[in-house]
Amino acid sequence: MGQCNSCKEWNTLAEEVIQSTKNEDFGLLKNQSNNKPKQISKISTDDTTRINLSDKELNRVLGGGLVPGSVVLIGGEPGIGKSTLLLQISLNLKLKVLYVTGEESLQQIKLRSNRINSDSNECYVFNETNVESITNQINKINPDLVVIDSIQTLHTNILASSPGSVSQIKESTSCFLNFAKKTSIPFLIVGHITKDGGIAGPKVLEHMVDVVLHFEGDKNHIYRILRSKKNRYGSTSEIGIYEMLSSGLNQIKNPSELLISNNKEILSGNAIAATIEGIRPIMIEVQALVSSAVYGTPQRSTTGFNIKRLNMLLAVLEKKAGFNLGKKDVFLNITGGIKIEDPAIDLAVISSILSSNFNIPIPNGMCFAAEIGLSGELRNIPKIDQRINEAEKLGFKYIVLAKSTKTLNIPKSIKALKFSKVEELMKNLFKELD
Ligand code: TYD
Ligand code: MG
Repeated sequence: MGQCNSCKEWNTLAEEVIQSTKNEDFGLLKNQSNNKPKQISKISTDDTTRINLSDKELNRVLGGGLVPGSVVLIGGEPGIGKSTLLLQISLNLKLKVLYVTGEESLQQIKLRSNRINSDSNECYVFNETNVESITNQINKINPDLVVIDSIQTLHTNILASSPGSVSQIKESTSCFLNFAKKTSIPFLIVGHITKDGGIAGPKVLEHMVDVVLHFEGDKNHIYRILRSKKNRYGSTSEIGIYEMLSSGLNQIKNPSELLISNNKEILSGNAIAATIEGIRPIMIEVQALVSSAVYGTPQRSTTGFNIKRLNMLLAVLEKKAGFNLGKKDVFLNITGGIKIEDPAIDLAVISSILSSNFNIPIPNGMCFAAEIGLSGELRNIPKIDQRINEAEKLGFKYIVLAKSTKTLNIPKSIKALKFSKVEELMKNLFKELD
């Protein structure tokens, strides 16, 4: 049926497998299962030694390595590098890996492995889309890791619907999940994403798996970020940073040094933010261009920054700093196309906009870290010591903070400038104005 009889919506029906239950299993007295509750203090965790993936970034995002028997879902835009990442991991791992591809031919995989210049005798590539024959091969090969690229191309014999349908995705995943828990073989599964950025398929998919990762970045830039959205074995605030080179993905160990340009010449419209992603401090450069609007409605465009947040910051500037941006176009760019979720970047955004608008460069060696509130106040942000240390390490001389920020042990070589309001910042930093 294409249309639902009760709500009259089209294409909303999904196939379900009905598990046949034997009647005699019902009733408390007849349940013979050996499963019993256990005291939490008696549960041992020794058997969960993590697998080291020889990729520091991924290890960190997973919370210190891959847990045996875990199912990890990796989503991302087409062409962002999911297959490359997983192939690299499969080839570098010194354990037996079954790499199942439903999307590419064996030759394509081989060509990619040539490109990333690595080879392995322990990596078995299998071009198959049938779940039963995949589990069959897993039983035969008995690998230490299974990679599935991608879940949307698979189908199981239990269902008649086509691959990629909600029910097929759910059934295939639950099959691998059971398999993983029973055998302790970890699964890395690629998931396509929808137009809105969610993983294609039922929402329950993300509930079922242990870890959900997103591989993101701007395809026109070389930087890629691996972000964790859910992790049953670690923190979700960790990120991994890679760059996509012609020879595969390269892990970036010192992001701050790469993400700020070492321009000796100071330019207006550039500001550097001391941000934190997870536990890692990252200095990142914000660039703004403010120009007179050519068309009636002013344009606002951003890369790597939420446009709604930009509109809010502009509204704050307009209201609190008497700053008429209604007739100006504003373009904002975060270097490398990296998306930063730390609100402490707000102050750098505002400063870069002011700097571009007045055409007054921000002094060399100055960086910013504070959130901006709706009434134009600079707000305190967490982990201030780490930000200051990172800034100092990279040779910054000044860090601009909110007045309420408590700074106890600041290194001597860096000075903290504290302001409580955007107006104050404007008067002090861009004082040549009046
Ligand atoms: P791919 O891993 O196929 O992306 P996904 O599986 O997420 O769709 O990566 C595709 C892009 O990466 C493609 O545009 C080419 C580029 N690429 C490189 O730049 N360098 C490389 O070494 C490889 C293997 C791919
Ligand atoms: Mg792919």
